[in-house]
Amino acid sequence: MDQRKMHGVWANRWTFILAATGSAVGLGNIWKFPYIAGENGGGAFVLVYLLCIAVVGIPIMMAEVLIGRRGRMSPINSMRYVTSEAGLHGGWTGIGWMGVVAGLMIMAFYSVVAGWALNYVVASAGGGFSGISGDEAGSLFGGLLQDTGRLTLWHSLFSVMTLAVVAAGVTKGLGMVARVLMPFLFVVLAILLVYGFTNGDFASAFRFLFDFKFGKLSWDGVLVALGHAFFTLSLGMGSIMAYGAYMPDHANVGRTIVTVGVLDTVVALVAGLAIFPIVFASPGIEPSAGPGLMFVSLPVAFGNMAGGQIFGTLFFVLVAVAAWSSAVSLIEPGVAWLSETKRFNRVTATIALTLVAWLGGLGCIWSNNWLEDKPASGIYVFESLDFLTSQIMLPLGGLFIALFVGWLMRRAIVASEMDAEGHPLFEIWLFVVRYISPALVALVMIFSLADKFKG
Ligand code: PFF
Repeated sequence: MDQRKMHGVWANRWTFILAATGSAVGLGNIWKFPYIAGENGGGAFVLVYLLCIAVVGIPIMMAEVLIGRRGRMSPINSMRYVTSEAGLHGGWTGIGWMGVVAGLMIMAFYSVVAGWALNYVVASAGGGFSGISGDEAGSLFGGLLQDTGRLTLWHSLFSVMTLAVVAAGVTKGLGMVARVLMPFLFVVLAILLVYGFTNGDFASAFRFLFDFKFGKLSWDGVLVALGHAFFTLSLGMGSIMAYGAYMPDHANVGRTIVTVGVLDTVVALVAGLAIFPIVFASPGIEPSAGPGLMFVSLPVAFGNMAGGQIFGTLFFVLVAVAAWSSAVSLIEPGVAWLSETKRFNRVTATIALTLVAWLGGLGCIWSNNWLEDKPASGIYVFESLDFLTSQIMLPLGGLFIALFVGWLMRRAIVASEMDAEGHPLFEIWLFVVRYISPALVALVMIFSLADKFKG
């Protein structure tokens, strides 16, 4: 078989859109976006985040998909292919390597948080939130974080779920999950939005998210927004490159990626507008509650609403499902690469990499760093993994991808993959990828890291 098509190709453009949206829409949108917006003061952060998506995220996403489709292999080998096509030094393959490592690092904490959601599915279905107060919800969550045995169980279950899908391959595994689960997720988010609107303090939530006050935003906050733009679009680490490698030849990259970017952004904003009205309507819960925001405020709301047991259960099922369809894309780059080496088949490759990420997850669980009272060891595995990947590795990966496509790939190749030679939008995109996106990423990284050293 042609080595460059060994993994399979999505059935059509929409399968790619749904699979890529499945990768993009995940814990980043439903869990992380609301709490980092809360921690960074709301409105101004949201505006910077939206700018980052439009000016940096979407253009770089197109560049990443383009490399994948050109190479038609794992990110490491696709980079090798486009690098040799451009007659360049093999060092650029490092983008693919960094991606594989970043994917495993993210998967380590991602599957632990997804495990929290699984635990909450069971808690909600069993009526555990019924009549609960803010304080009680807080101690329920605190109790879970201290229960390493239970955390390990859920984390392991989620890892096995991910393994099963990735091992089943591109068409049967990844494609099926995206097609079946994504529409389901959109519907339930819409229901929750309506609930927030009718039962919560929607006006305060809206003001909090869209009232652009810049005083509260530091350079650090800007870096968080930029990092999150990469995280939420699954950018800078090869996931989207790997998915691009399975994209049909004739699908238009530009239009397809704009659709994915818009869907992802809409889900994040809707999740914010579903969660914050409930937060503001619950006394004693601050919008800046941190990683526990969703796991503390929503049980209170569900526990005190009619039908909350069913809706609460459904909500956490959906969080877990969104996480599931993203997690598969975190290990896909490494799995694709290992299967290409021929020493592994897809199943053994998936088992090997899931095991590595699973061990990292145990590190997160045992270092207990979600708690207020940090461990004496000072090893904050979760925070370090999150910081290193979201704020350093993904933006750096994106920077190099933009530089590579903008400056080093032959223009004729870029234009033919984009299928847009001579189109004014193509010229604008190329300009952005050459100058604007790399400059912004570099500037934000330099300023915020300098700020950190000063602080
Ligand atoms: N985009 C996912 C989310 O928002 O939850 C997380 C993610 C998946 C990040 C895949 C990076 C990645 F490669």
